[in-house]
Amino acid sequence: MLVNLISNAVKYSPNANKIIIRSVLSGNGITISVEDFGIGITDTSKEKIFDRFFRDIDPKLNTYPGLGLGLYICAEIIKRQGGKIWLKSKKNIGSSFSFYLPFKNSGK
Ligand SMILES: Nc1ncnc2c1ncn2[C@@H]1O[C@H](COP(=O)(O)OP(=O)(O)OP(=O)(O)O)[C@@H](O)[C@H]1O
Ligand SMILES: [Mg+2]
Repeated sequence: MLVNLISNAVKYSPNANKIIIRSVLSGNGITISVEDFGIGITDTSKEKIFDRFFRDIDPKLNTYPGLGLGLYICAEIIKRQGGKIWLKSKKNIGSSFSFYLPFKNSGK
């Protein structure tokens, strides 16, 4: 999860020099967020961002190579752990991806 989110934060922030990683204990789990100050994501793309092979990138450009699998894999991992993943983002301002991981799997 962290490798995917941190590598996205770095990859999609060509003009920024920091990312912020936060962790908060809440309820019976932990919430971790990875915030960047990069290219951001449009509202339309947010709805599809966890879909397999989805990329919010012009395929003709090779600026940000990738397969569109990292976030899909994150979403599948966290689903199997009984957690959740979400994002906040503004185009050209930055993005913050968060996930909640319960300490004890609820049995799903
Ligand atoms: N932090 C981010 N800032 C801006 N756009 C992002 C960010 N993270 C993901 N995206 C957008 O979401 C799309 C899907 O991300 P995802 O990590 O699934 O695939 P990818 O980075 O393209 O390829 P890979 O499979 O190598 O991770 C990306 O192509 C990009 O358009
Ligand atoms: Mg990725």
